[in-house]
Amino acid sequence: MDAIIQPSSGLHGRLTVPPDKAVCHRAVLIGAVAQGRIEITPWPEADDCQQTLQLVRDVGVAVSRSGPAVRLQGVGIDGLRAPSRELFCGESGTTLRLAAGLLAGQPFDSTLTAGSSLRRRPMRRIVDPLAQMGARIDGASAPEAAELFPPLTIHGARPLKAIRYPMDVASAQVKSAVLLAGLFAQGRTTIIERIKTRDHTERALRCFGARLEQRDGEVSIEAGPLRCPGMLRLPGDVSSAAFFLIAASCVPNSQIELVDVGLNPTRTGLLEVLKRMGADVRAEVTENGWEPRGTVRATFRPLRATTVTAAEVPGLIDELPILMVAAACAKGKSRFEGIGELRVKETDRLQSMVSGLQRLGATVRIVSSETVEIDGGPLKGGDVSAARDHRTAMSLAVAGLVAEGLTTIRGAECVAKSFPEFFAQLGQLTGSSTVKTVDKG
Ligand code: S3P
Repeated sequence: MDAIIQPSSGLHGRLTVPPDKAVCHRAVLIGAVAQGRIEITPWPEADDCQQTLQLVRDVGVAVSRSGPAVRLQGVGIDGLRAPSRELFCGESGTTLRLAAGLLAGQPFDSTLTAGSSLRRRPMRRIVDPLAQMGARIDGASAPEAAELFPPLTIHGARPLKAIRYPMDVASAQVKSAVLLAGLFAQGRTTIIERIKTRDHTERALRCFGARLEQRDGEVSIEAGPLRCPGMLRLPGDVSSAAFFLIAASCVPNSQIELVDVGLNPTRTGLLEVLKRMGADVRAEVTENGWEPRGTVRATFRPLRATTVTAAEVPGLIDELPILMVAAACAKGKSRFEGIGELRVKETDRLQSMVSGLQRLGATVRIVSSETVEIDGGPLKGGDVSAARDHRTAMSLAVAGLVAEGLTTIRGAECVAKSFPEFFAQLGQLTGSSTVKTVDKG
């Protein structure tokens, strides 16, 4: 599919972005091993969430759809069944890495397989701690690297050994894999984080009654039964909201309001950076429950350049591509430091964004393998590739709203991974003639 974007004369309106897929993965995987029935609502249509749901079905969890909700019958901590086939995770890294933690503690073997881009993403970061806990995991290796890649075959063990694990990559997926394995370990499993990453797993585990403790950069878990809290209402995905908030901040005459957006403080680094850039973006928490949520309003105001530091990166990791677009629209030179993790996302997202923005006329320099500088200035429309990456596709579409002339995003169907409604919702805010999609058959 191609997406054809016209320059926008302003974004207007109020909408609800789709539910948060990161939170959804946790609800499904933890619900699967809890006792009782859980209803997850509203259910996200993102492809990645369907992968997680299919995976728990394949290990014996009954799942049904009821209107906007999905119901799951948790099987309890000892109830998962050996799968009769390989567990396919599609392109969902969160599905694969978190499920690996859960499966490491099972008294059976399982194999996690992946689509073509996930098969190139590094797994040593989860394999090492899970192996220390006593699971044996085989993966594919590349001759030139000490890395491991999917498919992963997990020879589970029960009980696992509790470990104290200082994380060397600031990754919520690694932390979550170890915490989930900790549910099946003898003793207390502790993860030490130098830089705090998103805490959705901790919040969800607490909802299910897990024995979890958090203090001073450490989170610990002990084995014990989990019980389903009945219903979990998912907040809107702040990472999806980010595209519209930055579009409204960059396109003159814009004013938008997004409701029921997740405002978990470990995910809202983007809002801090935008404020520093002079954006008129205001968030108001309306409900401070298991996951805080609220309303975010954005009104156009000219942006100024900023530096995003390495310490800020985990709090806005998925928003870096769209922040690069904000930087291209801001006055002055912006700098993004410590962003090397972008190279191991769905694609080398650092490269895909640098190439895409350069094709749209931005001045972008790769200063080192981890640092990029962007000079703000006018953009011109052009033909760009989504590089099979949903966040690159959506970010370049927003750049297209600001650019002079037409912008075509090739391969734009990849937005379905996290945000299938993206182009329709963008059209709602800009007026539908601004955004067109063309199926390529
Ligand atoms: C995620 C964590 C981040 C993020 C990914 C989802 C999660 O990955 O980029 O989209 O839900 O835990 P890392 O853990 O690799 O930083």
